[in-house]
Amino acid sequence: MNILAIESSCDDTSIAVLKKNNVLSNVISSQTIHSNFGGIVPELASRAHINNISSLTATSLKIAELDIESVNAIAVTSEPGLLGSLIVGSSFAKGLSLKYNLPLIPINHIEGHIYSGCLEDDSLEFPFISLVVSGGHTSLFLVESYTEYSIIGMTKDDAAGEAFDKIAKLMGLGYPGGPVIDRLAKEGNPTEYDFPRSMINSDDFDFSFSGLKTSVRYFIQKNFEFPLEEKNKQNLAASVQSAIVDVLIHKTYKAAKKHKVKNIVIGGGVSANSLLRKSFLDLESKGFKIVLPKMEYCIDNAAMIGFLAIKKIEHTSNKFKDLTFKVSSRPMRSK
Ligand SMILES: Nc1ncnc2c1ncn2[C@@H]1O[C@H](COP(=O)(O)OP(=O)(O)OP(=O)(O)O)[C@@H](O)[C@H]1O
Ligand SMILES: [Mg+2]
Repeated sequence: MNILAIESSCDDTSIAVLKKNNVLSNVISSQTIHSNFGGIVPELASRAHINNISSLTATSLKIAELDIESVNAIAVTSEPGLLGSLIVGSSFAKGLSLKYNLPLIPINHIEGHIYSGCLEDDSLEFPFISLVVSGGHTSLFLVESYTEYSIIGMTKDDAAGEAFDKIAKLMGLGYPGGPVIDRLAKEGNPTEYDFPRSMINSDDFDFSFSGLKTSVRYFIQKNFEFPLEEKNKQNLAASVQSAIVDVLIHKTYKAAKKHKVKNIVIGGGVSANSLLRKSFLDLESKGFKIVLPKMEYCIDNAAMIGFLAIKKIEHTSNKFKDLTFKVSSRPMRSK
């Protein structure tokens, strides 16, 4: 079974080729133009996908040493994301599916992140708790199988990645802010400033990060002048990162205890954060098995889309012949 997978939900165009669970290629073209605007410009994202998608597909097949005639099915991200970006990927996928008479498997991008830690090693036993921390989502899932899961908690306002990005903007740093804060935090003191850990002790598994952003805004206005000094940036970055990571770890730990689950998987762009990864691995001393995606599978990538498509083929009777599915921008929100 060879799968060609297409991911274009936001500002990364990615094409992967998988042979069963083996990733033969996973090319990602990240759009840098948005950094000039401090956030993603949807129209520019769609146009860049259009420019990239065809040649990236050729490159990915070439790296995999396969031609399109050897592909058995196509997988594509159908939701959630930017509508224009999703339409480019899904229209391209529908075209290939029609031309080569191949099954087409629409995949939810967030489900892709949920299982991305299992890519290349699917030996992890169900059930597990999955924390998806990305630019648009901060959600906890109780995952029973490749086809069954429930949302047990989610953010009530900003996602953790959004908080990193917005706070980085307040500090005058570049976009996306998460990687910049991660880098600066390595030189800073995480206990220098005491920022709020919203909802850390609430009885549910929900999150809230917008209060942190407001608190950092007022703190900076009151205490610093622009441009910020390097040491202040480092201490702010370390203190903010520590506040976000504390909540993510504490809530995930509580969810795993409550549901009596020993396996924890994380996914999404923020799962690349070095403190978050280290703090999760520290939970292994409490008897948990922690699965972290490889760095290339934290960011948006087509390999996770192809992997989940293979699991859906294996675990459902769907023949995936329906080419009429619609894309959707709606974030995964309901519990
Ligand atoms: N090392 C890091 N530390 C913290 N945050 C990071 C790091 N690397 C990336 N991020 C954050 O990850 C986010 C991007 O993740 P991702 O690409 O999965 O989001 P998205 O696809 O836009 O949203 P979603 O997956 O919810 O649709 C950005 O907010 C970025 O700042
Ligand atoms: Mg994503």
